[in-house]
Amino acid sequence: GPAKSDVRLTVNGQTHDLALDPRTSLLDALRDHLGLAGTKKGCDHGQCGACTVLVNGVRLNACLSLAVAREGDSIVTIEGLAADGKLHPLQEAFVKHDGFQCGYCTPGQICSAVGMLDEIQRGVPSAVGDLAAAPQASSVEIRERMSGNICRCSAYPNIVAAIMETQGKTEGRAG
Ligand code: FES
Ligand code: FES
Repeated sequence: GPAKSDVRLTVNGQTHDLALDPRTSLLDALRDHLGLAGTKKGCDHGQCGACTVLVNGVRLNACLSLAVAREGDSIVTIEGLAADGKLHPLQEAFVKHDGFQCGYCTPGQICSAVGMLDEIQRGVPSAVGDLAAAPQASSVEIRERMSGNICRCSAYPNIVAAIMETQGKTEGRAG
């Protein structure tokens, strides 16, 4: 195979030195090289959001990013959201509101929602631009901002309900 590149990744607060094919996606690095299987591979082409992680607090489709491009960044996966054995408020809300059925999209939904709530706090505009009530965004606003995360089980009403309940409780926890 091609020459390997030395890559240092910081994931969930831990530093890892890896030797990777330079074409390795961040998603494959996380799943296949670091054993962090919570981040899911759906389409592998930026279409489903199952692979969403947080990079410096901003949500990103890990399948679209090369691992070598993420050196020096702080990456947080679903495994890193539960701190000290305590679920993240969004994880608790997904359980309470039955925000999943098969669960395949759920880690990506939750990571995406963490980043999305931070975007609302920071005033990042969305396509519907319904920010009059920020920081309490409407369900329409949330649905639009979460449109990159597909749920084949159509658990959307419960996902939105879980996110609605969590608004305002997650400041400073985007990683
Ligand atoms: Fe990355 Fe679908 S696996 S967006
Ligand atoms: Fe099955 Fe979303 S819960 S894909």
